[in-house]
Amino acid sequence: MEEMSHPNDFFPATRMRRMRYQAFSRRLMRENRLSSDDLICPLFVIEGNNKQEAVASMPGVNRLSIDLVLREAETLLNLGVPAIALFPVTDPDKKSLSAEEAYNPDGLAQRCVRALKDALPELGIITDVALDPFTSHGQDGLLNDQGYVVNDETVEVLCKQALSHAEAGADIVAPSDMMDGRIGAIRTVLESHGYTNTRILAYSAKYASSFYGPFRDAVGSAGNLGGGNKYSYQMDPANSDEALREIALDLREGADMIMVKPGMPYLDIIRRAKEQFGVPTFAYQVSGEYAMLKAASQNGWLDEQQVVMESLLAFKRAGCDAILTYYAKSAAQWLKQL
Ligand code: PBG
Repeated sequence: MEEMSHPNDFFPATRMRRMRYQAFSRRLMRENRLSSDDLICPLFVIEGNNKQEAVASMPGVNRLSIDLVLREAETLLNLGVPAIALFPVTDPDKKSLSAEEAYNPDGLAQRCVRALKDALPELGIITDVALDPFTSHGQDGLLNDQGYVVNDETVEVLCKQALSHAEAGADIVAPSDMMDGRIGAIRTVLESHGYTNTRILAYSAKYASSFYGPFRDAVGSAGNLGGGNKYSYQMDPANSDEALREIALDLREGADMIMVKPGMPYLDIIRRAKEQFGVPTFAYQVSGEYAMLKAASQNGWLDEQQVVMESLLAFKRAGCDAILTYYAKSAAQWLKQL
C-alpha cells in the first residue's frame, strides 16, 4: 500500500511500551507497592501446650497452642508484620446456646491476648468479636424459638465479649458478626470503661460467602452449622450499594477502620469504599481464597509466590490499606528476599 511503503513514515505518537522496556523505568512508574506494613496474619488458637494441628483444607496453616502462637507472633514481628488476628477454637463442651464462653475473662482468646501483650507489647493484637466459635449451633448470634438470630440480645453479648478482649489488652476489636448497631454499642461500652484507645475494625461489608468453608473447618463451627446459612445477617453477594450503607453506618457509630470480606472477588467493593469514604480500608483474603491459591500451586498449575504477590498487590491497587491473609508470613519472607 502506498501510504505504508516506508515504515518510518508512521509511528505511534505514544509508545506505552517504552517505559516497560527496562526494569529501572518500570520501577520509577510503579503506582502501588506491597510492604510487610500492609499485612495482618490470622492465627487459630487451641488449648494445650506445644500443640499444633494441621487444618486439612488449608495446607500450611496450623492451629497452635498459646506457647506456639507466641513463637509464631515473634517471627511475624521480626518479619515486619504489624499485627495478628486471633481466632480461638473452642472445645465442644464449652459451647452453649448463649455463648457465655465468649466473654470468659479466662477464655482461650483472652488468655492468648494477655500472653501476647506480655511477651510482645509492640505487636498489634486484633480479636474477633462474634459468637460462632462459642455457640452450639455455629451461628454468630443467639437464636429465638424460630431459629432466627436475634439482633439486640446478640449485641449485648458482643459488648461483653469486646470488653473482655479490651480488658485482656487487645489493641483492636474486630466485630465480624454483622448485627445491626453493634459498633455503636461496643464503642459506648469501651468508652464508659475507659478504653478510649481501643480501636474498632468493623467487618462492615461481610458477605454471605461460600469462600469461608475452610475457616469453618479450622474453628470447628462447620459441623455445628450443619446445613444452616448466614443469609439473614451477612450480605448478599449481588449487592454493592448496600455495602456502602453498611460502611456509612459503622463509621457513624465509631468504627476506626472498615473491612471488606472476602477479598479477591470483592475488589470492586474495596475501590468504591475507599473512594467514597477515604478511611482506613482493610480486606480479608479469606480461607477459601488461600485454599484455591495453595491447591493450584501444590498441583504445579500456578507459581505460588508469583500469584500470591500479584493477588496482594491487587488489593493495594484496589485501595486497601492492609490485608488479612493466611499468606502474611510467606509474603513478608518473600518481600525480604526481593
Ligand atoms: C465468623 C468468621 C468467619 C470468618 C471470620 N470470622 C466465618 C463465617 O462468617 O462463617 C471467615 C474467615 C475466613 O474464611 O478466612 N465470625
